[in-house]
Amino acid sequence: MLEHYVSTRKRTEDFCAPLSIEDYTPQVALHASPMKWQLGHTTWFFETFLLKPYLKDYKEYHPKFSFLFNSYYNNVGDRLARDSRGVLTRPSVEEVYQYRHYVDQHIEQLFGGNTTSEMNGIFEIGINHEEQHQELMITDLKLMFFRHPLKTTYQEGGSKLEGKVNHFNEWISISEGVYEIGHQGEGFAYDNELGRHKVYIHDFEIAKDYVSNDDFIAFIEDGGYERFDLWLDEGWAWIQQNNIKKPLYWKKEGDEWVQFTLGGMQKVDGKGILSHINFYEAEAFARWKGMRLPTEFEWEVASQQFQWGERWEWTNSAYLPYPGFKTADGALGEYNGKFMINQMVLRGGSVATSPHHSRHTYRNFFHPHYCWQYTGIRLAKSK
Ligand SMILES: [Fe+2]
Repeated sequence: MLEHYVSTRKRTEDFCAPLSIEDYTPQVALHASPMKWQLGHTTWFFETFLLKPYLKDYKEYHPKFSFLFNSYYNNVGDRLARDSRGVLTRPSVEEVYQYRHYVDQHIEQLFGGNTTSEMNGIFEIGINHEEQHQELMITDLKLMFFRHPLKTTYQEGGSKLEGKVNHFNEWISISEGVYEIGHQGEGFAYDNELGRHKVYIHDFEIAKDYVSNDDFIAFIEDGGYERFDLWLDEGWAWIQQNNIKKPLYWKKEGDEWVQFTLGGMQKVDGKGILSHINFYEAEAFARWKGMRLPTEFEWEVASQQFQWGERWEWTNSAYLPYPGFKTADGALGEYNGKFMINQMVLRGGSVATSPHHSRHTYRNFFHPHYCWQYTGIRLAKSK
């Protein structure tokens, strides 16, 4: 696990290689965090939950860093407001790296000695937490560069993350019956996946492939964003209030759609996989097709039979606890459970997800209006 730790920490820092010092600090949206803050926060996680409680005579790096880098853990104490993460001109980027390396040295000391299963469990959560932030770093940087008036490029070749659909044009048929849902076995899983339980599923079909950009262009050209009958009430209010007429990163130039990628503005590839749409858009598109989104249970049952992992797929399931859901005692009990309100489940994984981070039972979740992740659509239909 120590090796996994070292490679994960290095991978995070590798993401920063294309950045200038100025790129580390701005916060361009409430839901997107600056790179500097995320470098500090992922480090704070290991310091708070492992070094302080388990490493004898550990001296914290800085007495104010817990205030700066605590995200949402009420058990740990007061913290900087979420919308103020971009005001951290200090500590300097250099000092945040020093903090990282100080914590790395002490983690190596702690896990170079005898460990307990409790410590190992927290260590695994800490590494998975940093992997989750790696995905957020990519998507937060994408939003930051997009908001720049010159649409700055993060990295040459960054557009390769957009990907292509396979055009299987096939449907997978699943028979009705009782299915088991949730994680089982030895491997790591978050608490929200545990509590394997039975679910009754009716006959349905699910697409073997993602919705493509061409598919979504047809929706737009058919007046998809102007037809109230296609939208959930909240979704219709969202597009009215925000004057939404296209996916987040798209722009019409003459007759052509272009999109912002990590490699800068590029022509929208019709065969590319649709991305960066929110739940409302996904739901309206499915309705326009005379179909629907799968539930998270349908997705989990069918996912053995299709390729996934290039887009987080919106499901039509609210993010709720499984039967028997239990949270851990203390601060780590705040990791997932307290967010089971007003959010939708996404399944799969994306091109920005850290390697081997996701699995068939993984439950991602976001509020329905968010579209800055690599989110897409897989259609389903009842029989
Ligand atoms: Fe976090």
